[in-house]
Amino acid sequence: MPSPLMVRPELLSLDLTGKTYVITGANSGIGLVTAQQIARQGATVVMGVRRVREGERVAAEIRREAPTASLAVYQLELGDLASVRAFASEVNRHHPKLQGLVNNAGVMRTPFGHTKDGFETQFGVNHLGHFLLTNLLTDALKAGAPSRVVNLSSYYHEFAMGRKGEIHFDDLNYHRRPFDTWEAYAQSKLANLLHARELGRRLAGTGVTAASVNPGLVRTNLLTIPLPMWLQRLVVLPFLRLAGMIEPWEGAQTSLHALLAPEVAERSGAYYSQVAGYKDKAARKGGWPLSSPNPVAHDDAVAARLWRASEALVQP
Ligand SMILES: NC(=O)c1ccc[n+]([C@@H]2O[C@H](COP(=O)([O-])OP(=O)(O)OC[C@H]3O[C@@H](n4cnc5c(N)ncnc54)[C@H](OP(=O)(O)O)[C@@H]3O)[C@@H](O)[C@H]2O)c1
Repeated sequence: MPSPLMVRPELLSLDLTGKTYVITGANSGIGLVTAQQIARQGATVVMGVRRVREGERVAAEIRREAPTASLAVYQLELGDLASVRAFASEVNRHHPKLQGLVNNAGVMRTPFGHTKDGFETQFGVNHLGHFLLTNLLTDALKAGAPSRVVNLSSYYHEFAMGRKGEIHFDDLNYHRRPFDTWEAYAQSKLANLLHARELGRRLAGTGVTAASVNPGLVRTNLLTIPLPMWLQRLVVLPFLRLAGMIEPWEGAQTSLHALLAPEVAERSGAYYSQVAGYKDKAARKGGWPLSSPNPVAHDDAVAARLWRASEALVQP
C-alpha cells in the first residue's frame, strides 16, 4: 500500500478564529480528530453526539490540551428525525452562521433493523439523518458562506465485501427484500456520495461547497472485531496494518483537506479519497479529488432521484 495522502501543512495552521463548524459523531474516531484539529486552529466546534456525557468528557479533554478551544456539545440521534430537528434548531438558535458541516457519524454492518422512523438502520443513520440535517442547516451555511458540507462516504461505496454499491429505489429500506448488511452499508455510503454531488449542483452560486470523502481503512470503533483484545493486538491489527489500515489522525486527513483546501471550492460535489482497497486497481492510490470507479457515482439522474426520494421520506 502506498503512504497515506496528507493535508498540506499550511492548511493546518490557518487561523480559524471566528469560524463555526458542526461535526456529527465528533466524540470518536475520525470525527474526534477532525474536531480536535480545527478547535486547535481557533474554530468554534459544535459537536453533535448521541451520548452527551461522553461528548462532554471528550470536549473537556480537548480543552485540557487547547484551553482556549471553543466547543459546544449537543445531543443528536441520527436514527430519530425528531432528534435531528431538535439538534438543528439548537444549532440555528446559537450559531446562525456556519462555515462548515461535517456529516461524519456513521454505523457499519448493523444487524437487520429500522430507525425510529422506519428506515433501514444504515440508510437511515448514515444518509437520511444527515440529509435532513443538511437541509435544516442550509440557511445557516448560506449565511456563513463561503462554507462547506463534507459527507463521510467510504471506498465501500464501490463494493463492500463483494456487494456492489447501488441505490435500490424499489425498496430502499428493506421492507420487502432479503436483508444483507454489507449491501445496505454500500447503499448508504453511495448515498452519502450522491447526496454531496446533488447538493453541489443545487447550491451552485451560493458560496456553499459540497464534497464527499473516503477516509481510508481507519482504526476506529467502527471496526469492532469480535475477538479478545490480546489476540487482536497480536494477530489481527498487524495484519490489518499490512493491509493498509491507518490511524485516526491519518483517517482525518481527507476530511480536513475537503474542509480547508481552497481548491475544493472550485469542484463542488466532488469525491476525495484516501489510499484504499478499491476493487478497481487504478483507484487504489486515492486522489483529492478521485473519479469514483463506481459508474453510479457519476449518474446525475440517480443523484437527483435519490434527493427526491430522501426528501419525501424525511417529510414531517
Ligand atoms: N473507520 C473506517 O475504516 C472508515 C472507512 C470508511 C468510511 N468511514 C466512515 O467514517 C465515519 C466516521 O466513522 P469512524 O470510523 O470514525 O467510526 P467511530 O469511531 O465508530 O465513530 C462513529 C461516530 O458516529 C456516531 N454515531 C453512530 N451512530 C449514531 C447515531 N445513530 N446518531 C448519532 N451519532 C451516531 C458514534 O457515536 P458513539 O460513539 O455514541 O457510538 C461515533 O461518534 C463514518 O461515517 C464511517 O462510515 C470509516
